[in-house]
Amino acid sequence: MEKLIRDFTALYGTAPTVIARAPGRLEILGNHTDYNQGFVLSCAVEQDTRFALRPVEGKHCRVKDFRDGSRREFDLDDIATAIPKDWSNYIKGVIVELRKRGIQVGAFDAGMESSVPLSAGMSSSAALETAAGFAFREAFAISLDPADWARVGQGVENNYMGLKSGLLDQFSSIFGKKNSMILSDFRSVEVLRTVPLPAGYSIVVINSMVKHNLVDSEYNVRRQDCESAAEKLSQIYPDVKTLRDVSLEQLSDARDALTEREFRRALHVVGECTRVLEAVRLLEANDVRGFGRLWFESHESSRVNFENSTPELDYLVELAKSVPGCLGARLSGGGFGGITIHLVESAGAEEYARRVQAGFRQKTGIDAEYIICAIGDGATSKKL
Ligand code: GLA
Repeated sequence: MEKLIRDFTALYGTAPTVIARAPGRLEILGNHTDYNQGFVLSCAVEQDTRFALRPVEGKHCRVKDFRDGSRREFDLDDIATAIPKDWSNYIKGVIVELRKRGIQVGAFDAGMESSVPLSAGMSSSAALETAAGFAFREAFAISLDPADWARVGQGVENNYMGLKSGLLDQFSSIFGKKNSMILSDFRSVEVLRTVPLPAGYSIVVINSMVKHNLVDSEYNVRRQDCESAAEKLSQIYPDVKTLRDVSLEQLSDARDALTEREFRRALHVVGECTRVLEAVRLLEANDVRGFGRLWFESHESSRVNFENSTPELDYLVELAKSVPGCLGARLSGGGFGGITIHLVESAGAEEYARRVQAGFRQKTGIDAEYIICAIGDGATSKKL
């Protein structure tokens, strides 16, 4: 944070008055369950986005991204619509969403830094929305519940960017707890409990380097499939509001009421909700191997049922089965590219990652980046 404050001061000639930070996140289990009001096991990571800000008079805002040196300027009266593929959308969108709630953000100079890999499935956009939002919170005395801040970020994605995503990314960035996973319920929108990662095991993130851009992906189509499946199932089972309410048995009994595609999409979501709850039970019983098996099952269901994997992601997970030291691996996040996560014995984590990297390079010619991830705390902000 000191470097960001120094860079900001050198650029604008005066120091920032507030700073905020928001981490990226990993979806551990519970793929595409959030917008079906289901369960997710996730965590915040130590990689984060930092945002420094100083309010200024007038309507003109300036922001510099110190990561790549790019700059954006905009007028507060001219931010109603997003500019295609521009990072400033994630800041302007927050201002627009806050206005809908009757909250005004004044003009500012800002600077940011980030260590969250971009377009990888670690929620770099949610980290930016949350960091910017939390900086606005301090600078303009905004009072909102933490879950509402997550809804503001989700609103940016849903309304400003046109991605019909759920609450998982912003929620995990805000509610993450150091060294623990969080079990969240996206019907009641709360953290049900924290679940420590078993001692002696680490999460290795291996990036397939296939950029995933969910805005242009089939993400929204998947969501529609889930909703039409839930709608048809609700005609058979009146208590069903979303796929979260459906059991595996009910789903298989009602198979004929769904198209084959709807059935597979629903099977993924219902299976994922089941796996999340099973994971918590297995971890309570200290069954780390069983926990890891669920990661492989989750990936297989993504590949076959939800079809949000890619050949590169599949190959990374295949390698995980042959390189010693790994208990489970799967794609994490929206899919369609981006990262895989691997549950490994901490002692051999570095060696494991290098071996997977080498195998991946041999087959694809791609240099996969890896991170041995530490689980971090959720977003914070403060006045300077
Ligand atoms: C993306 C979305 C989340 C969630 C995941 C899949 O990260 O932004 O809301 O749906 O995909 O679980």
